[in-house]
Amino acid sequence: PETPTGCPVSPRAAAFDPFDRPYQLDPAEALRWSREQEPVFYSPKLGYWVVSRYADIKAIFRDNLTFSPSIALEKITPASDEAQAVLERYEYGMNRTLVNEDEPAHMARRRELLEAFSPEALEAHAPMVRRLVREKLDAIIHLGRADLVAEMFWEVPLTVALHFLGVPEEDMEQLRRFSVAHTLNTWGRPSPEQQVEVAEGVGKFWQYSGQVLKKMQDQPRGHGWMYDMIEKNRQKPDVVTDNYLHSMMMAIIVAAHETTALATANAFRQLLSRPAVWAELCDNPELIPAAAEECLRHSGSVVAWRRIAMRDASVGGVTIPEGGRILMVTASGNHDPGHFENPDELDIYRDNAVDHLTFGYGSHQCMGKNLGRMEMRIFLEEFTRRLPQLELEEQEFTFLPNTSFRGPEALWVRWDPACNPEHREP
Ligand code: HEM
Repeated sequence: PETPTGCPVSPRAAAFDPFDRPYQLDPAEALRWSREQEPVFYSPKLGYWVVSRYADIKAIFRDNLTFSPSIALEKITPASDEAQAVLERYEYGMNRTLVNEDEPAHMARRRELLEAFSPEALEAHAPMVRRLVREKLDAIIHLGRADLVAEMFWEVPLTVALHFLGVPEEDMEQLRRFSVAHTLNTWGRPSPEQQVEVAEGVGKFWQYSGQVLKKMQDQPRGHGWMYDMIEKNRQKPDVVTDNYLHSMMMAIIVAAHETTALATANAFRQLLSRPAVWAELCDNPELIPAAAEECLRHSGSVVAWRRIAMRDASVGGVTIPEGGRILMVTASGNHDPGHFENPDELDIYRDNAVDHLTFGYGSHQCMGKNLGRMEMRIFLEEFTRRLPQLELEEQEFTFLPNTSFRGPEALWVRWDPACNPEHREP
């Protein structure tokens, strides 16, 4: 095979498939060869230019005029005709949000919507996060065994996300199913039969988002980030547009909870599989923020993000032609020894963990990163204090097959309820 520019593709590049097992299990490991030998390559199976080194990924993120984010939420596997018909039936019209909007529209919009993310505004959500985590923990603490994903890792971040957005906390189970459909639709490779099922889920999610938005618009001003947007849409409809509101309503429900849920599951998996590190956190809870950050680097929940080249452009010495679609494997950049010493080691004392690319970089960098971090921190604080004897069970981890959102679908842990510190201290 050849690249679109007519160069031969190496055998490894030709074989690369992000839907194969190695990438699904460990994307950073699956691209070790690329980091070492061919850091920018064309993948004929994907139709994307894959970029795996830290510095190259950062350079792309930095220049969002040459490398437009407009394709960030595009379907990575084009819809079949049947699936397309389903989407049309639901009048599916997901378009630009923030994450896939070009300049200057993006910055004008982002600037209008920053207030909800100030440190004070975020801190106001902390007591609620802690209460939710405590309630969930109360419900299982006597059991001695649980799948933390099913018990709380998705439900708590989803509740927090809805609260942050001001969206009524209804239909949680349904929203979770919708989110899975959205992830598969955007970053997955559903089979022809699955395509239709996924399109049904996505179409319903689109309709649902519109209904919730309508309900919120009809109400007097409530609290939450979506209300900020609705208000800005009234004041500046050319900056915060109607379609933006509807598209964002759907995209943000996913962005604000799935990412955090998966990141929390990844962090618990990594920390519990190193009992000495877990014990250290239990003894020194002040290490938790740094440990969470290192987990985001080592095993982030977003592992790859996309851009499209607006002109012929050089990346790591390779010319990507105008129109070239780019998959930046941020999980690989996070394991690049050119930036992180002993990158495969989980080192909670690492002084540059915060340089990781899991939240992206540059003008689109994740707006909700401090909310995500806070949730991870509170989960870890509550568990290290109340269940220091927590252990990871032997298990096979499974992942939703897709290029970008990653975390175990279940995380089984066990503990001896008789050893709970709160039992010992009446
Ligand atoms: C953008 C990851 C949590 C809201 C992004 C991007 C990534 C990301 C990779 C794209 C960045 C870029 O293009 O440079 C994550 C991860 C999270 C998380 C790993 C949790 C661990 C959240 C939460 C919220 C949120 C909780 C909302 C409350 C956003 C928004 C953008 C964004 C609004 C678009 C920013 C823009 O384009 O200007 N996130 N996210 N994220 N995220 Fe997050």
